[in-house]
Amino acid sequence: MLVDKKLEVVIDKASEDHLYYVMKHKELFADPMHLSTVQYMNAKNMRNQIKFNELLYKRLLSFDREGIYLDIGVGPAFLEFVNNQLGKKLHLSTVEWEEQVDHFKCVRDSWKVNVDYECNDILKDDFKIHNCETYYDYVLLQRFFPVYKTSGTKRIDDVLTKFTPYAKTAIIIESDTNWTKAQWKHLLAISRERIKVFGSFNMFIIDLEQYK
Ligand SMILES: C[S@@+](CC[C@H](N)C(=O)[O-])C[C@H]1O[C@@H](n2cnc3c(N)ncnc32)[C@H](O)[C@@H]1O
Repeated sequence: MLVDKKLEVVIDKASEDHLYYVMKHKELFADPMHLSTVQYMNAKNMRNQIKFNELLYKRLLSFDREGIYLDIGVGPAFLEFVNNQLGKKLHLSTVEWEEQVDHFKCVRDSWKVNVDYECNDILKDDFKIHNCETYYDYVLLQRFFPVYKTSGTKRIDDVLTKFTPYAKTAIIIESDTNWTKAQWKHLLAISRERIKVFGSFNMFIIDLEQYK
């Protein structure tokens, strides 16, 4: 496992830095829409996220190690951190919502991961990933809550449709417990494959061609 005693020190330092960053930039975190981004002050949460992302990294390598991946809503960049630690075998580009670029900056800076592209609100009709001219094999939606934070299935289709100019295939990575029965049924219907990552987390592989 990647997370050993030496790496725990790095993770603990990153979460402590985030704590000080939150204290210093309280105005960024005061809005309830952004409050959850304080969660990385908790070192145990960070370690668990990194352990999970090591498993995800291995699944993606065996799924398609040659593919190019666009990581939307990169947040604290755990997958990129793991990729850097384990020899950069995955081709990853990162996207962050312009409203939250600063909220995760301190953690990303600890790992020396940059945001390659910024985007506007995925829920807006004029959604755009700015300056993105590459067409990716895969767009990764890991814990990307705009896709599931609603009870219906329309949101899933609306969000996926927005990625058709940017990628051939979407990979949704989320806990089974966060989907309603109807959403789960819908995901199975639109996916060409479902791959277990760990525990309740699955990857749904979805061809975006069906949304064109
Ligand atoms: C819980 S974080 C997940 C971060 C990372 N993928 C992970 O699993 O650790 C949710 C991500 O979705 C992005 N996001 C949330 N609402 C969004 C919106 N309306 N438009 C675009 N991105 C959004 C956030 O900026 C953040 O990067």
